[in-house]
Amino acid sequence: MTTVLGISGSLRAASTNTLLMREALRVSGADTLIEADLRLPLYDGDLEADGLPVAVQTLANQITIADAVVIATPEYNKALSGVLKNALDWVSRTDGKPWADKLVAIMSAAAGRAGGERSQFSLRLCMVPFGARVLTGPEVLVAASHSAFDEDGRLIDERYAKALDGLVGQLGL
Ligand SMILES: Cc1cc2nc3c(=O)[nH]c(=O)nc-3n(C[C@H](O)[C@H](O)[C@H](O)COP(=O)(O)O)c2cc1C
Repeated sequence: MTTVLGISGSLRAASTNTLLMREALRVSGADTLIEADLRLPLYDGDLEADGLPVAVQTLANQITIADAVVIATPEYNKALSGVLKNALDWVSRTDGKPWADKLVAIMSAAAGRAGGERSQFSLRLCMVPFGARVLTGPEVLVAASHSAFDEDGRLIDERYAKALDGLVGQLGL
């Protein structure tokens, strides 16, 4: 039995990164698909001193039990979203090194022509402290993301779908 966790760095209901993350989960072939909830409080050392928020520990546990994680990040001003960075910071405060040796596939969907390339690069840098095994390619950079998915949430452009298959396939699920 294999488990994959999907993390989308965008909270909005119509998020194209959530669509991309769901496609990654779907094609992963894993037996159990979990979607993370990044509606966490903003990191605050005083809050932490009172005890880790339950939602933070839940996320850390989901990362720990997953055989692999896929992360779809939006591009906000040429970097990853604050929502995603906040989640990474919170998880770094939990015990047990949830990311250690974890296979991770990162991807992005963005309005711009570069498909969030800079956000992925910034996310890759943010992952460095955690000791995860972040795949290097093929890169999944979905440009003009508002028109990249059909009504069923499938990627319209076969080149994107092929890249996603190639990337997620390396998770070996
Ligand atoms: C604060 C903010 C900054 C943004 N900056 C960029 C950017 O640097 N590059 C880009 O391609 N799109 C940028 N966008 C547009 C996003 O790519 C677009 O809103 C995208 O749909 C967000 O992902 P989502 O569909 O998963 O919510 C920005 C949007 C917001 C709200």
